[in-house]
Amino acid sequence: MGWKGKIGVLGAGRMGSALVKGFLGSGFPAKDILVSDKDEARLRHLAREGVRAVSDNLELVKGADAIFVAVKPGDVRRTLDEIKGLIGSKLIVSVAAGVPIRKLEEKLEKAKVIRAMPNLPCQVREGAIAYSRGKLVSGEDARVAGELLGRLGVAVELSEDMLDVATGLSGSGPAYFYLAIDALTKAAVEDGMPREVALKLAAQTAKGAGETLLKTGATPQELIDAVRSPKGTTERGLEALEKRGVAKAFGEALRAAAKRARELAG
Ligand SMILES: NC(=O)c1ccc[n+]([C@@H]2O[C@H](COP(=O)([O-])OP(=O)(O)OC[C@H]3O[C@@H](n4cnc5c(N)ncnc54)[C@H](OP(=O)(O)O)[C@@H]3O)[C@@H](O)[C@H]2O)c1
Repeated sequence: MGWKGKIGVLGAGRMGSALVKGFLGSGFPAKDILVSDKDEARLRHLAREGVRAVSDNLELVKGADAIFVAVKPGDVRRTLDEIKGLIGSKLIVSVAAGVPIRKLEEKLEKAKVIRAMPNLPCQVREGAIAYSRGKLVSGEDARVAGELLGRLGVAVELSEDMLDVATGLSGSGPAYFYLAIDALTKAAVEDGMPREVALKLAAQTAKGAGETLLKTGATPQELIDAVRSPKGTTERGLEALEKRGVAKAFGEALRAAAKRARELAG
């Protein structure tokens, strides 16, 4: 972890705040993080963490070496028009869903552009992040981008045509798992379990399932088979899910989200 520059996060909404919190949690010095937003309340909230919060995007661009653009996809064009004169050859990491590198490079002629798809667990450094590099990004720039994004969780470089798929998988994905956790919790509560306990068991089960996959290297099917015994409890649960087409629905969720990402690109 050798990069010594300053990070700028433009847009302090849900994702921008998650990035700031993740960088802070990784030990990146608060004094080397700048954040800007139009909304003063959001800035005040982050300023309490010790980062430099500014309302002027140009001040942020001047002061930062690597700039994360975390505004809504529809605001990217306007935002880049505002800052492009000061970007020069700085590293720009756009996290906007759907906005292709080509469009970012058209605006920022000399900038080194990375397009990334993070997710909200970046705030606790458990993010799943996919990223692609633009044409002016050197090997060293890509290493820096990988180092910075790696502070927020697991970061993988992919070809750009996979980023909309990553949006449907890991960008939107936390919501799919929250939905499952919420549904399981509600059912347990209906059957008499205290909400707090049910939520803790459901969330830890999701975490434990993911951790087991990552740490053992076993396939999901192998792990399903390890939980399921013939005519046992899990089999009954899985049959109920199958009857409702849940596996197919997850595939459809990924594709619908990826399609929406392509639409947002305009
Ligand atoms: N949320 C997620 O889970 C997630 C996951 C992966 C990627 N992303 C991407 O992250 C980006 C931000 O999403 P979000 O959910 O964080 O949205 P958000 O909560 O609406 O945050 C965007 C923030 O940027 C501000 N903003 C807009 N234009 C600006 C400008 N020109 N200068 C300074 N600030 C400006 C907005 O202010 P106003 O509200 O006043 O406009 C808002 O505070 C999107 O492009 C999205 O695709 C989000």
